Amino acid sequence: MSEVQLTGIRKVYDGVSRPVIPDLDLTVPAGQMAVLVGPSGCGKSTTLRMVAGLEEPTAGTISIGGRDVTQLPPAERDIAMVFQSYALYPHMTVFENMAFGLRIQHRPEAEIRRRVMAAAESLGLEAYLERRPKALSGGQRQRVAIGRAVVREPKVFLFDEPLSNLDAKLRGDMRREIARIHRQSKTTSMYVTHDQIEAMTLADLIVVLKDGVIQQLGTPVDIYERPANRFVAGFFGTPSMNFLAADLMHAGERTSARGKGFEIPLVTRAALRPASAATAKLMIGIRPERLSLTPLGDDVAVSGEVAMREVLGAEIVLHVDSPAGSLTVRTDAASPARLGDTVKVWLDPMAVHLFDGTTELRLS
Ligand SMILES: Nc1ncnc2c1ncn2[C@@H]1O[C@H](COP(=O)(O)OP(=O)(O)OP(=O)(O)O)[C@@H](O)[C@H]1O
Ligand SMILES: [Mg+2]
Repeated sequence: MSEVQLTGIRKVYDGVSRPVIPDLDLTVPAGQMAVLVGPSGCGKSTTLRMVAGLEEPTAGTISIGGRDVTQLPPAERDIAMVFQSYALYPHMTVFENMAFGLRIQHRPEAEIRRRVMAAAESLGLEAYLERRPKALSGGQRQRVAIGRAVVREPKVFLFDEPLSNLDAKLRGDMRREIARIHRQSKTTSMYVTHDQIEAMTLADLIVVLKDGVIQQLGTPVDIYERPANRFVAGFFGTPSMNFLAADLMHAGERTSARGKGFEIPLVTRAALRPASAATAKLMIGIRPERLSLTPLGDDVAVSGEVAMREVLGAEIVLHVDSPAGSLTVRTDAASPARLGDTVKVWLDPMAVHLFDGTTELRLS
């Protein structure tokens, strides 16, 4: 098991003045799976490609298992990469595609056979070993691409959106497959995805990037339950978290957040009290599943009108126009609320995330 360490990594592409990655420090502990997420163009693939040696950092060092690999060509880094476009060799059979990396390393034939057969068995590819890629489905091809990486038994796996060409069912199957391989091999991995379910279920560690800067690094539960700033809070979760502008108010011992059409008591948040100012700008965050159309035992509610109703099956998503802005409510499909209804949206003060209205950083 090998730790992957990026230190002071900067990447400026030729002919582009702004760095894609200004200054990145990231350690993926040995044996862990780090999942990189962030908006398109934030530098996820660039980061992976630098670890792979396909792209040279402008500054900084990359080490794998304590060895500085910054100047080493890809072949000497002992990594295996799986891309979205799996690029199998069309003229080779499945067996030869998987064996290729080992043949380059001049491994003995018996060992190649053993390793390819083991990977084929684990990925359910035994029946296809003599076929060529064009006679396989997309899902089977992606299995071969993963198998080709697995047989090499590298120090590090790098996955760049490996499942995004597959349909929903296959994605789920392959995701569980990758999770199983990771549990068994405990190979240090970096995995890029736009799929939140993949990120939440595969990651030991999620790295949220924006403009090449880490916004938060933490376990999936950390990221979801204690987002470090408004960006992370809005990025994770479907539909996205609601944000309401509010002022921090003090009246005697009572602290509350007051916005347009609502006031939320902040009983457990005494530490928020700013040293001097009587009020401060807040941004309240609350997830759609924590809003309800039936009272929650607290008297905090916002009134509004149902402007959109999306049926998702077991659940519905309501968009409610309120004085505080548009509120997204995820609730049971049995809810009687209809388009145009005036409703009260109840919110649980304990489910509220508080962000500084100016810096957008998490408070408390
Ligand atoms: N060879 C290149 N030359 C110049 N700019 C590049 C090059 N490769 C990537 N970029 C730019 O660097 C930025 C980061 O690209 P990168 O591919 O790392 O993004 P990403 O996070 O993987 O995005 P996506 O989610 O769309 O795959 C983008 O703005 C991209 O246009
Ligand atoms: Mg990319």
